[in-house]
Amino acid sequence: MSEAFMNDFDQFTQSWWPYVISFIISIISAIRIYMGGSKCESSGRIEGKNVIITGGASGIGLETTKELSKRGANIILAIRNAEKGTKAVEEIKNFYQKAKVTVKILDMSEFSSIRAFAQQIIDEYEKIDILINNAGIIFHPYKRTSEGNELTFVTNYLGKFSI
Ligand SMILES: NC(=O)c1ccc[n+]([C@@H]2O[C@H](COP(=O)([O-])OP(=O)(O)OC[C@H]3O[C@@H](n4cnc5c(N)ncnc54)[C@H](OP(=O)(O)O)[C@@H]3O)[C@@H](O)[C@H]2O)c1
Repeated sequence: MSEAFMNDFDQFTQSWWPYVISFIISIISAIRIYMGGSKCESSGRIEGKNVIITGGASGIGLETTKELSKRGANIILAIRNAEKGTKAVEEIKNFYQKAKVTVKILDMSEFSSIRAFAQQIIDEYEKIDILINNAGIIFHPYKRTSEGNELTFVTNYLGKFSI
């Protein structure tokens, strides 16, 4: 290494810069740790359990699906958009190659769709071990569905009781 470089390096180490850089790195690390949230400490397995997760193609639902797939679940991804379903399956398989995921179409704002979905599940599965009612909406303008229900109310609440 050249003498000039060593002189510059000495000057740098004797300046305030190392302290400034360390301070900035500490602040960024602290923010990352704080924003990262808490971690699930359980390493429990759910081998072969049938799990339905609504709205599992994005957000919290997708992350939950990835984690439960890794823990051995048979996932039934209940979503309203087939294209999003294909992309979600791709992402889940990238996360965990052996993931067992089946996509089924379900629109939580329409009773007819919920009934059709439920019938398919009854026909194809002996039992459901876990149901995760994740699908939901917020901050949507007032709108009624084709069945006459208010969109947010039916999606987030009424749909779960559809018979
Ligand atoms: N994020 C938060 O801070 C927070 C806080 C409290 C509660 N929550 C609740 O946690 C759940 C997930 O939140 P998130 O942040 O992951 O929200 P998100 O990213 O908006 O995901 C919501 C999911 O629900 C699906 N969905 C919406 N309407 C549907 C319908 N009619 N039928 C079927 N699926 C439908 C969406 O599908 P599309 O992709 O097709 O739209 C989407 O996959 C929601 O119920 C939310 O209210 C979230």
